[in-house]
Amino acid sequence: MCGIVAAAAQRDVAPLLIAGLKALEYRGYDSAGLAVLEAGQVHRVRAKGKVREMEALYLADPFPGGTGIAHTRWATHGVPNEANAHPHMVGRVTLVHNGIIENYVSLRTELQAKGYVFTSETDTEVMAALVDVNISKGMSLREAVLATVRELEGAYAIAVISRDEPGRVVGARRGAPLLIGVGIGENFLGSDAQALVQVTNKIIYLEEDDVVEISREGARIYTLDGKPVERATHESELSADAVERGEYRHYMQKEIFEQPRAVANTLEARIGAGGVLPNVFGIGGDELLAKVKGVHIIACGTSYHAGMVAKYWIEEYARLPVSVEVASEYRYREAVVPEGTLFIAISQSGETADTLAAMRESRRRGYLGTLAICNVPESSAVREADLKLMTRAGPEIGVASTKAFTTQLAALALLTLHLAKQQGLDSARYNDLCAQLHRLPRAIDEALKLEPQIIELAASFIPRHHALFLGRGAHFPVALEGSLKLKEISYIHAEAYPAGELKHGPLALVDEDMPVVAVAPNGPLLDKLKSNLQEVRARGGELIVFADSAAHIDGGATRGSILRIDAGGDFIAPAVFTVPLQLLAYHVAVLRGTDVDQPRNLAKSVTVE
Ligand code: G6P
Repeated sequence: MCGIVAAAAQRDVAPLLIAGLKALEYRGYDSAGLAVLEAGQVHRVRAKGKVREMEALYLADPFPGGTGIAHTRWATHGVPNEANAHPHMVGRVTLVHNGIIENYVSLRTELQAKGYVFTSETDTEVMAALVDVNISKGMSLREAVLATVRELEGAYAIAVISRDEPGRVVGARRGAPLLIGVGIGENFLGSDAQALVQVTNKIIYLEEDDVVEISREGARIYTLDGKPVERATHESELSADAVERGEYRHYMQKEIFEQPRAVANTLEARIGAGGVLPNVFGIGGDELLAKVKGVHIIACGTSYHAGMVAKYWIEEYARLPVSVEVASEYRYREAVVPEGTLFIAISQSGETADTLAAMRESRRRGYLGTLAICNVPESSAVREADLKLMTRAGPEIGVASTKAFTTQLAALALLTLHLAKQQGLDSARYNDLCAQLHRLPRAIDEALKLEPQIIELAASFIPRHHALFLGRGAHFPVALEGSLKLKEISYIHAEAYPAGELKHGPLALVDEDMPVVAVAPNGPLLDKLKSNLQEVRARGGELIVFADSAAHIDGGATRGSILRIDAGGDFIAPAVFTVPLQLLAYHVAVLRGTDVDQPRNLAKSVTVE
């Protein structure tokens, strides 16, 4: 995780770097720092906490300078404090880093033997020292960085300046994102395009093992063996407005309310009156999908929950076997891959370390092909996949994922329909599913209208320590997602169970202090779920039931509430039922006064293992 931004310009760059860091805070926010090079001197400011804490220190004692690097941290090695905050300075060298250096202990020991004294607990400081050692041997900054990264094991994106080379920043990447922002008479580096949207929309994405040197005049890219290389320039479509919070109190709330539009964008020009359109999955997609005999889905966090919903859908409608697994497990085990299996990676960011590693591992395992379902067009996952389906959610800033999830579901619903038609699903049912998917944006819009009722409900969660979420079928992953949202941002311990498992353990926890949230769509499993709810009632548990308007569920509860939702159909119901659970978590967190958009210890983009 961690965010990097760097600049080589004629104007003073510290304010630009701070603005860039604020856009990158989703990547980590436990400490921040910046360093600016001016007339052979490096001025540095670092602080524990959010970027604004560091900004306040800078504003109290600002410094000029046109060359600088900056960092917002998500701690891996060493607690979040000022000493461990980046940039790290050793000798002539100042450096910021995103990633983990796995061989830093042995490198550090060697450097200590040479007399280097370290002031932090980080793996990063070792890199700065190595670059300094290489400069002492007579190398330029670029040569010194190249020589250093060749010695590193692990993952990194770095930006480095040297006191001896004014106007120059050298960057490098392996396993963590870094891109160049091309300005007029000024150039930048950033962890993503959002960080640079204030200064340029011309972006060059670095490839694995690239090293780059930027100055006011331009950017030169080199491969690991030091050969110059060209990379294409892209026009980023991001606008500064897309990352504004507008009238909303938090990004998360804004993003929840953007879902009808975001889902409509995902579906646009991909599904017509007669069903899913051809060539939705990229060049050669339809031909490749025609050969699919099974599917493996790999993802992390919320994206994993989207994959779990897809398993229910694809198996039911396309009758193809599907397995879903978290990437950190998949990558380290010997999965059996039957012939004709499609590998699907789901990732909002397209940069999650475990998901990327799983994708790379899949190359060795003989899949039919890989499909990335992703929200960031130039991300590593998209660039490395054979087929891609962009979710088009727009930038998601809140660390707890909301619109990224429902747009992933919309994308997976398109895939399900494509496969279902190909596998011969009855045309009446196919048409019904397509009509439901067309209705999804409106159904989500209706679900959002429950907000006032949910705010009332949220008040009862303020003193709670635990909550249980129940669902069945494709709504079990919805329950998992609801419980994840609650724990992420309100810090209430929450667990989700398939409702049928209740009596195999979690029922022991149910008492008057344990709210039980049940997702109750209409359908064949409703009666089974009702029996599970009775089991909770009989033990005095407080039930909160999100029920389909068409489902017959009587009040009957001594304690608890029923909220009615028009799900718009059995197929799209998981996406619709997700919305009130997001709202519940959001309002509980607001009432408990937590940092909703940047919950403690988490980060949005997990680029470390
Ligand atoms: C982090 C985020 C989650 C996200 C997960 C996977 O844990 O906080 O919101 O679901 O990473 O990220 P990805 O970008 O691969 O979907």
